Amino acid sequence: MFVRTEGEGESLAGEYQLPTVDDKINDLRGAVPLSHLFLRERVRAGDRVVDATCGNGNDTLLLAKLVGPAGRVWGFDLQQRALDATREHLLAEGCLSQVNLVRAGHERLGEFVTESLTAVVFNLGYLPGGDKGVVTRPATTLVALNVALDLLLSGGILLVSVYTGHEGATDEEKAVLAWGSGLDPKAFNVWTSRQLNRPPTAPYLVLAQKRDV
Ligand SMILES: C[S@@+](CC[C@H](N)C(=O)[O-])C[C@H]1O[C@@H](n2cnc3c(N)ncnc32)[C@H](O)[C@@H]1O
Repeated sequence: MFVRTEGEGESLAGEYQLPTVDDKINDLRGAVPLSHLFLRERVRAGDRVVDATCGNGNDTLLLAKLVGPAGRVWGFDLQQRALDATREHLLAEGCLSQVNLVRAGHERLGEFVTESLTAVVFNLGYLPGGDKGVVTRPATTLVALNVALDLLLSGGILLVSVYTGHEGATDEEKAVLAWGSGLDPKAFNVWTSRQLNRPPTAPYLVLAQKRDV
């Protein structure tokens, strides 16, 4: 079930209610459900994964369910409020033990994670319902994307939900698109997925896969 909470082009991370892992995702509306479809295809029990922007914890929770107690999730956010919300979700679902919550910018990913990763998720923008001043920014996002790519296993995926509504979003969007376009096609498959029947300002997904060749 999906509940719309914000306008087109704004941060939409709060609109999507996480299905249990056994459910089908019924409504592929927006970047987040689509990113979950890819995660559910790719991430297996025991895997190592990263949520680079915990926010309210929806992506972290899905990752924690997918990797199970034998796996490991590192979840990053600058805001204690976001980490607290994420911790609450994880506790409620009995998934906290497989998650390290890190209060640090994702540009510092390499200081905390040295293991190879099956998936890394970025959900850009600001915390829905939170401080719009704490927002992802192109310079740090690009550092984090590059570190994440280095850590990815062959076949692993990096997913970026890109938003266009907030201040600075256009610069960040341009930076992410230029970054993705510049990746060597011999080493990476890079995709964008947009909903054609929504306004061009609607959030969309960028996916980069490290090729297994
Ligand atoms: C759109 S929200 C993420 C939504 C989240 N994935 C969810 O499921 O609710 C973006 C989050 O990125 C965080 N953030 C901003 N800059 C960051 C940075 N440099 N490193 C890590 N997190 C950052 C914000 O605090 C905010 O919580």
